This record gives sequence, C-alpha cells and structure tokens, in this order.
Amino acid sequence: MNEKVLIVDDDESMRFFLNEALTKRGYQVHAVSEAESAVDAVKQKTFDLIMMDVQLPGMSGVEAIPLIKEHDPEAVIIVMTAYGSKHALDAMRAGAYDFFTKPFKIDEMSIVIGRALEKRQFQRDIKKLEQKIRRQYSFENIIGSSSAMQQVYELIQKVVQTDVTVLICGDSGTGKELIAQAIHYHSARAEKPFVKLNCVAIPEGLLESELFGHEKGSFTGAVGRKSGKFELANTGTIFLDEIGDMTLSTQAKILRVLQEREFERVGGTETISIDVRVIAATNKDLAKAVQEQGFREDLYFRLNVFSIVVPPLRDRKEDIPLLVDYFLQQANEDMHRSVSGVSRDTMEVLHMYHWPGNVRELENCVRRAVVMSDEEIITPNCLPAYIQSIAENPKYTLPETIESLDNTIADVEKQIIVDTLHSTGGVQSKAAKLLGISERSLWHRVKKLDINVSRIKTG
Ligand SMILES: Nc1ncnc2c1ncn2[C@@H]1O[C@H](COP(=O)(O)OP(=O)(O)OP(=O)(O)O)[C@@H](O)[C@H]1O
Ligand SMILES: [Mg+2]
Repeated sequence: MNEKVLIVDDDESMRFFLNEALTKRGYQVHAVSEAESAVDAVKQKTFDLIMMDVQLPGMSGVEAIPLIKEHDPEAVIIVMTAYGSKHALDAMRAGAYDFFTKPFKIDEMSIVIGRALEKRQFQRDIKKLEQKIRRQYSFENIIGSSSAMQQVYELIQKVVQTDVTVLICGDSGTGKELIAQAIHYHSARAEKPFVKLNCVAIPEGLLESELFGHEKGSFTGAVGRKSGKFELANTGTIFLDEIGDMTLSTQAKILRVLQEREFERVGGTETISIDVRVIAATNKDLAKAVQEQGFREDLYFRLNVFSIVVPPLRDRKEDIPLLVDYFLQQANEDMHRSVSGVSRDTMEVLHMYHWPGNVRELENCVRRAVVMSDEEIITPNCLPAYIQSIAENPKYTLPETIESLDNTIADVEKQIIVDTLHSTGGVQSKAAKLLGISERSLWHRVKKLDINVSRIKTG
C-alpha cells in the first residue's frame, strides 16, 4: 500500500514541486495551502507523514501541530521553514518529528522522509506487539508468559463463566489473591461485593461474629447488630484466604455455610440464606493435611471442586523479565522516577536467585533497586547483598569431595536458612513458614548452626 503524505504549503510552486517529487517516489500525496485545511484533512483520514510549512496565511504551522496531534497523537510531522532555527525550535517543542530549512535538496529530503516513515512503522509495530503481548500473556494485571502461567489463564477463563467453588494453591507470594480477584472481576458477579476473609487473622473468640455477624446484646460489647462477612458477600464472592491454617472448629462452621448456604447471626434465631461464590486459597498441601487429620476431609471435598495451582517463581523464571518491567514501571510511577531497565548482568543475577518469597519478593526487590539506583539502568549493586552474592557463589553447591556427610548437610542447611531469613527480612515466623518447619524447629536450627539473625535484620 502506498504511504500517504500530506503537504501543507501556501507557496504553489513548492506544493507542485513536492507533489511531483514524492509521487514519483511512490507516495500518495495530498496537498493543501492552509493549516486549517490540514487539520480538517487529518480529521478525515490518517496520514503516514505530514510535511508542513511554518509561515502560513492564517494559523501558523506551529499552532497547527497540537491540533493535529489531538486527532492523531502519533502523527509524524516534518516542518519546512525558510526562517531558520527559531521556528524550527518552536515546531520541535510543539511535537514535530524533524525539520528542514528551505531551500533544500530533494535527496536530503528523501532521507529525512524515509527515516520518518520508518519511525511511524516502528511505532505501529510496537503497538501491535504490545497488544499481542497483553492479549496472549496476561490477564490484565497478572503478568507472566510462561506456559505454566498460560495454563493458569486458561483455567481462569474457564472458571469465570461458572459459579463453582475454586481452590487456589501455591506458595506464599505467588499471586493467589491476585488470581482470586481476577476471577471475581471477570465473573457475572463483578459488580457485586468481593469480600476477603483471612482465616487466621481473627482471634477464635471473635470469629463466629466476624463470619456470621451478631444481634444487639448477644454478648458483652455487642452494642448493635452487625453483619458478618458471609452476609456482606451476599450475591458476590467470598475469598477465604489461608484456608489451610484454620482451626478445626472454624472448619466446622465454614463447612455448614458451604453445604447449606445459610446460617444464623450470633445471638439470633432468624436463618439467613445467602448466595455467594466461594474462592479459597492456601499455601499448604491440603491433601496431606487431610491425611494428617489437620483438615476436614468433607470440607476439602467441598472446596476442591476446581483447583488452580500456581507454580513457584523459580519454576517459571522466564517470567522474570516481564515482571521486572512491570514492577519497574509501577515503581517509576509511584516514585516519579524514570528508570528504564536493568543491566544484562543484573538480569543474570535475578535469574540465578531462587526466589523463596516468589513474585512478592521480586516486586520488593525491584522497588528497592529503584530507590537505590541513581541512574537510568539498574546495576547489580542496587540488589540486596544476599542476592548479589548469588552471582559469585551459586546456590547450595556441594563440595567436590565430601569429607563428612554431616558437616556438608549442616553447611547447606545453614545456607538455605540464612537465605530464607534474608528473604523475610529476618522475620523467623515467616521463614519457618517458607521452609515448612515449625518456628520452634527453626529456632533450634538457628542456635545449632550459629546463625546471627540480628545481623540479617540490619543487613
Ligand atoms: N503474576 C503476577 N503479576 C503481577 N504481579 C504479581 C503476580 N503475582 C504476584 N504479584 C504481586 O505480588 C504480590 C503478592 O501477590 P499475592 O498477594 O496475590 O500473593 P499470595 O499468593 O496471595 O501470597 P500469600 O500466600 O503470602 O498471601 C502482590 O503485590 C501481587 O500484586
Ligand atoms: Mg494471599
């Protein structure tokens, strides 16, 4: 298809000359003599290139630039001026792509035109690519192009069209809550409430009232009637977070609502029926918890109707570059910065690290790097020391010859614990959770292996 060029010049011989020269080179030319007509022309159709004189009878070329850009923000405009740099500068400030001064040689002009059209094509290609990436590789704000994440998107697509209970399983920081929100906001219930209930954050004594609400005077401190989370979620979605950490007595209470979709407020006699979609999330292996009798089997079957497993970040490292870009952009916006990317060696280090805190840890790491960096590109020294050191000492390597099995195991155990503590900022309860051991057990190991936790906290 011929590229379309709009010529704007009040000098008739100039219009004629350009028309001839450009038509001969294969462009489709439209020529007008006033800026006003140029703006009108842009409203009617899109031009690949606009070549415009500055001094025109009515509106000047410089004044026309913003009006043209209003209709076509990507318009590529080259101004032609006989009056030297002042006009050219004004035009560039107003958004022109380039300029040349009259008189000009046709060969020179051809080069500038060729470059401008290339830029236009490049912009279009980028836009198409961005759209494609968005469609193919993400679910709005869920980023990731790995095949594992694409499977997750497919599952989300399937389940948003239904009302079935969804169980989302994955390690801490893998994006379970994000997925729960995506399901709700793409379902028929999108306009209705999305209520989150963190199953462990509520003290046992208040739990029943929190879940089901209470009547006035039902217990000391119940000064008025209060609706519980299930009631608030009516017609919408309830998100039961950390479901694997619920006590057995809470499990029994939840089971009844899930089975019967009705309950009474604490101290009340009226039975309330509700219509809610249930989404649950856990970082525990529920099947195992059932076997070990920490989780009710009947509740497990109720919840595990449709499950989505989110893999840990270390198993889909190909998602790291897209996630880094995404978090960089967000950090730039929040902190009014303009960091454009990470250096190649930084990206290598990010690939080497094993991300025990998953996407949340990567997000924190990128934000921190933006704060640390004085430049436009993030370099490895903007990363936390424990991540930087990965590049020098790859994770958990065993010595070539093992002199003592016990010492070697203790050594690797220490590396893993120190590393995990670094990723949690020295918070032992979180580290214990990530490592799948009790806090007590972690405490014993920290002592046995002589790990300095307070240094990790300050470092
Ligand atoms: N694929 C992703 N794309 C963009 N952001 C993500 C993605 N996954 C996680 N995040 C971000 O990482 C952080 C942690 O995600 P989220 O809270 O959903 O994790 P989680 O699995 O619920 O973690 P936890 O088990 O600790 O509650 C959030 O800030 C979230 O926006
Ligand atoms: Mg969560």
